Amino acid sequence: MSSINIIGGKPLLGEIEIQGSKNAALPILAGTILHQGVTRLEGCPKISDVLHMSEILEELGCVVTWEKKTLIVDATTLSKHAVVGEVAKKTRASVLFLGALLGREKTAVVSYPGGCSIGERPIDLHLAALRKLGVSIKEDLDLLYCNVAQMTGSKIHFSFPSVGATENIILASVLAEGETNLYNAAREPEIVALCEFLVAAGANISGIGTSHLKIEGVQELKEVTYKIPADRIVAGTYLTAVAGAGGSAVLHGVREKEIRMVVKMLRKAGCSVDFSGEHCLIRREKRLKSVSKIETKPFPGFPTDMQSQFMAILSTAMGESKIVENIFEARFLVADELVKMGANIEIRQDTSTAIIYGVKQLHGTPVVGKDLRGAAALVIAGLMADGVTTVSGMEYVMRGYEDICSDLISLGANVTESVCRIAK
Ligand code: UD1
Repeated sequence: MSSINIIGGKPLLGEIEIQGSKNAALPILAGTILHQGVTRLEGCPKISDVLHMSEILEELGCVVTWEKKTLIVDATTLSKHAVVGEVAKKTRASVLFLGALLGREKTAVVSYPGGCSIGERPIDLHLAALRKLGVSIKEDLDLLYCNVAQMTGSKIHFSFPSVGATENIILASVLAEGETNLYNAAREPEIVALCEFLVAAGANISGIGTSHLKIEGVQELKEVTYKIPADRIVAGTYLTAVAGAGGSAVLHGVREKEIRMVVKMLRKAGCSVDFSGEHCLIRREKRLKSVSKIETKPFPGFPTDMQSQFMAILSTAMGESKIVENIFEARFLVADELVKMGANIEIRQDTSTAIIYGVKQLHGTPVVGKDLRGAAALVIAGLMADGVTTVSGMEYVMRGYEDICSDLISLGANVTESVCRIAK
């Protein structure tokens, strides 16, 4: 396991440019195969999840190259339709190739993604919606065999606005015959990015950013250059880092409307947060105040991907805070590690609630990250603690953060920089 050492207690000061979004890049990478030619993705984050999606593209027969921060996919030579085995297990986003392969090849074999440390994560909504588009699906052990003679538009009502299911069905229906209507679709900014990318490539999608998406199938897509938008969760993570450690910083590339709920909670906790265009200034001088209730919800609600980082910073806030997790059933893994650092957190599994009784100070100790955002939250806790915090499980962080150590060091943090980024 990769680990880093953090000597906490230093306020942060400086500015950071926010990297491209992981959750926008992953479905877009799957979407590149819908065009039988070249796609250029500028500002694509160099994170392990992106590299794993690139490996899958190469296994399928595509040619993938980097030109600095631009990822170029040539899908002309795609010759396979199976995403199985080791490469598929490396990232759950591999399941997005299901919709994209069916859209292009009318056939796909994909490994069942299975659960992970934050929850069961079934894909029943993806499969039910694909069946409505005419896809026949056979499950054999952990493989899904999918075929469709002619993908045909349909009306699909999601019982829950699943991000992945919405993306898979968008990818499957862009080249379908006729019109697909998605109701109660997810509205996350990353869905907007996927739609904008596809529209730039010639797709016909309306209702973008709403819960009703209308996709009119087109014959083919065309070559496009698309800039991956900045990562709202990375921005939120650095905002909480400053909130936790104290100090002030300017983050460049933050869209206010994408992180409204996060900013609202930071202000409730006593931070000052101001925007000028896409530049965001955060300041935290006094001890944080508790927040009576944070409840994770689909966008525009408070994101589950920011819940762990808030648990870290609220652990030293004045008073009692409550976090209710409504999206993933097992997403309080970080609580035990924070408790090792001196936090006082009670988890009520029956109501998916964490009660955080603020303590004065966290103390450095070895802790283990068990999922992407939980590990990032431990890095924040390390910045807040006295003494040395050793955070292991940094390979999780590298799934989503290009170089968290260099970013924090540029803000004045005392972090050993050895293993925070994937080899470039
Ligand atoms: C995506 C994000 C992840 C984020 C999550 C919620 C990517 C690569 N990942 O994950 O970072 O935390 O959205 O914002 O973009 N569900 C079902 N059946 C399904 C699909 C989902 O029951 O067919 C459940 C899941 O188990 C989970 C909830 O719905 O409890 C949300 O899942 P979903 O919105 O699909 O999240 P992901 O796409 O997996």
